[in-house]
Amino acid sequence: MDLLIVDDEASLRDFLTIVFENEGWQIEAAPTLADARAAVQRNEPDVILCDLMLPDGSGIDFLRDVKMQNPSVAVVMITAHTSTKSAVDALKAGATDYIAKPFDIEELKVIVAKAVERKELEDENLHLRSALEERFTFSNIIGRSPKMQEIFSIVQRIAKTSSTVLISGESGTGKELIARAIHYNSGRRGKFVSINCGALPETLLESELFGHERGAFTGAIREKRGLFHEADRGTIFLDEIGETSTAMQIKLLRVLQDRVVRRVGSNTETNVDVRVIAATNRDLSESIREGTFREDLFYRINVIPIALPPLRQRREDIPLLVEHFIAKFCSALGVPQKRISSDAMRAIEKYHWPGNVRELENVVERMIALELSDILTTKSLPEAVLLGGSIPDVTFDLPQDGISLTDHLEAIGKIFMLKALERTGGVQTQAAELLRMSFRSFRYYAKKYELISRDAEVESEK
Ligand SMILES: Nc1ncnc2c1ncn2[C@@H]1O[C@H](COP(=O)(O)OP(=O)(O)OP(=O)(O)O)[C@@H](O)[C@H]1O
Ligand SMILES: [Mg+2]
Repeated sequence: MDLLIVDDEASLRDFLTIVFENEGWQIEAAPTLADARAAVQRNEPDVILCDLMLPDGSGIDFLRDVKMQNPSVAVVMITAHTSTKSAVDALKAGATDYIAKPFDIEELKVIVAKAVERKELEDENLHLRSALEERFTFSNIIGRSPKMQEIFSIVQRIAKTSSTVLISGESGTGKELIARAIHYNSGRRGKFVSINCGALPETLLESELFGHERGAFTGAIREKRGLFHEADRGTIFLDEIGETSTAMQIKLLRVLQDRVVRRVGSNTETNVDVRVIAATNRDLSESIREGTFREDLFYRINVIPIALPPLRQRREDIPLLVEHFIAKFCSALGVPQKRISSDAMRAIEKYHWPGNVRELENVVERMIALELSDILTTKSLPEAVLLGGSIPDVTFDLPQDGISLTDHLEAIGKIFMLKALERTGGVQTQAAELLRMSFRSFRYYAKKYELISRDAEVESEK
């Protein structure tokens, strides 16, 4: 590690040089700011130990310049014993720590060691953050279909605003991915906090979101910050907002209107600066008609609606996604890039993907795990994809060797069910109506033929 010592007192410079060289540091020493600036240009130090007053200027100005150029340098200021003001100024200008003259050398060693620790932690955070940002830049969200292109352009236009966004779409269409992309392109400095509103009972959801005071209810042993606080200056992602109770909806409405939250058991409200992104895989206008979703809340969250189309309505994205996931999993496993046979790709392109991109991602992962050769084939495709993809041949000629009538009728049924689902965008009740079937038996067969995902099934059972 490199340490730069900036002090005009030659004896102190020499003393510190000897001490820290013994500690294993590479040392540069500079008597003036001009020398110090030159040293920083030459070779970026990890830590700078800098006197406050130098013959050619103030150490604080130098500190500011250095931090501007390289925020990750740790700077420890050496201040005059008498002045607490200069110590405060130094910290404000970005110093990691300070020590007052005259000092105990052991104390200085501890301060420098701590500064290094802090710096390493910060570097790591910086690294993690940029890795995260990288992950949610648009290069990782695949889609060349006009529908997806339009969504990317909306996301780019609205990311920097703080407007509320409502993302709708079937399970696995990429709602959370888009929500994160909005946050990481927003320039908002706070966190992205995500909560699944459908997964928690109402009282728990309330204290998760808003926090609670100590003793607010049995079990509230200590006070707790809510997620709205966690997301201050950042973004909160309210997933499955359609699953909340109407009582909860009133509370959310209040936050959205006034941007204040009240902890459970508290009388006071606090301001929060949070961008809200909500998501749903329900048709909320239908929920409004049914009386399970408040219209006023709907208008509050539906400021910028983003509707993610199901994968079967943007089939041109399928090959790109397949290539993307092959690359992703192969590089994660550290194996050479695999290719996919054209038969397998054809089946994948034809399948209706009720579980959307998530299902596709899982299927690709599974193919890579199952097939050791360089080429992924139909062999490792799940049966549902193979059957659903290759629409069975229906014939009215009786072949020489006969036919299984049951299988044949089943194939015809499957084709019509797929077509009906296609036409209604996956809405099973409507698809059943189109086929003059009861919803129950439609669901039974859809499940049996694996035409619907498990999530869709759970949803319709509610
Ligand atoms: N356009 C896309 N490009 C690349 N990966 C995608 C895309 N859309 C979705 N994915 C991937 O598919 C998976 C599912 O996406 P995500 O979790 O965002 O879906 P969701 O709509 O929130 O689903 P659910 O409603 O089930 O929670 C994730 O692993 C995500 O990275
Ligand atoms: Mg999700």
